Amino acid sequence: MKPLNILTDKNPLLKKVSKEVVFPLSEETKELIKDAQVYLKNSQNEELAEEYGLRSGWGLSLVQLGKLERICVLVIEDEENSGNFTYHTFVNPEIISYSEELIYAGHGEGCLSVWPDIEGIVPRYARVKIKALDINGNEVNFRGREDISILVQHELDHMDGIMYYDHIDKKNPFKDKDKMRMI
Ligand code: NI
Repeated sequence: MKPLNILTDKNPLLKKVSKEVVFPLSEETKELIKDAQVYLKNSQNEELAEEYGLRSGWGLSLVQLGKLERICVLVIEDEENSGNFTYHTFVNPEIISYSEELIYAGHGEGCLSVWPDIEGIVPRYARVKIKALDINGNEVNFRGREDISILVQHELDHMDGIMYYDHIDKKNPFKDKDKMRMI
């Protein structure tokens, strides 16, 4: 397996705003998308993850691979341990609507660019609807709820240089716990 160079948050690139993507995508970009898909899929396979020392993840934004382009790659296993995955690549994604209800991940949010994990509440919309382009430039609409909604918001934040822990209250990481639903 080709190793994937995932930047850590010590790299200043992670704090930058990524640029709108102009079509067609470059070969380099397409290659990074493929590499991210392979990594994410393998990272969810326990044996491979252990063999290659992969941290498990469902999503990556291209900035994490060193390219400041507004693209993210999601690889979601249809059902736990089913071995079937759904792939999404969103180019220039935008949230077009979101729920009033807020949720947070009870086990905390994680990021392949952050180690160790940082504890605390990251408020997210329970449901989001986004519009984006696919790798061919066709418009796609996508709805995410619960953990997928968190994932989408997490990846879109990367495009604006925002890390999940930027949402955590420094003095009181579990502030407003009662105002939102834990998932
Ligand atoms: Ni991340």
